[in-house]
Amino acid sequence: MQNSEFVRRYSTVAIALHWVIAVLIAVNVCLGIGSDYVPDESVRTVIDLHKSIGITVLGLAIMRLLWRVFHRPPEFPRDMPKWERKGAHAAHFLLYVLIFFLPLSGWMHDSAWKDAATHPMHLFNVIPWPRIGFIEHIEPGERERLHDQFGALHTYLGYALYLLFAAHVLGALKHQLLDHQPELQRMWPKGKGEHGV
Ligand code: HEM
Repeated sequence: MQNSEFVRRYSTVAIALHWVIAVLIAVNVCLGIGSDYVPDESVRTVIDLHKSIGITVLGLAIMRLLWRVFHRPPEFPRDMPKWERKGAHAAHFLLYVLIFFLPLSGWMHDSAWKDAATHPMHLFNVIPWPRIGFIEHIEPGERERLHDQFGALHTYLGYALYLLFAAHVLGALKHQLLDHQPELQRMWPKGKGEHGV
């Protein structure tokens, strides 16, 4: 078993991106689902904030993907079984896919909205943000159909995220609590007097 005093951890950039993206996604799931339950006069505000946070996540997800392409993550503990390594790799790969395609599908859904032209997007009410041009300019009947399909895609990618998130957390807790590996510390900044890279 790996010495729990010595932790191979992710870099500061990876740790910061991981937690900022995780928190923003959690907030956005609440806003996306919550938009059905807020009073009518607040719906637009909630959805506009949801879109702004979603586009921010898309930007951060691109940075995270680029980071991952150019950096190897810290090695798994040597005695970690092969099936667990494969499972963790698959879950991480799918999470990267989702943090990118979930906001992208939302942006596609919104770009196909029939009122997109009369309701321009502004990130956090400040920065003008475009719709996806080729979707916005599709013929209205076809665009309406795509609006529904992209909306359904956005919802189903959300369901996939809930499942993967559960697997990700259960896996981390297994390593931490049952296998007594310093799992959470890998994704947490080094504290004073702690050993590790
Ligand atoms: C972190 C990224 C995102 C997450 C986790 C997320 C999650 C969600 C969830 C869970 C829902 C509710 C789905 C349902 O109940 O069927 C939703 C709805 C929606 N999302 Fe996103 N979303 C993200 C990004 C975006 C982006 C970037 C846009 C547009 C630019 C967007 C536009 C929408 C719209 C228009 C709805 C429908 C709201 C309604 O009319 O009820 N989302 N989203």
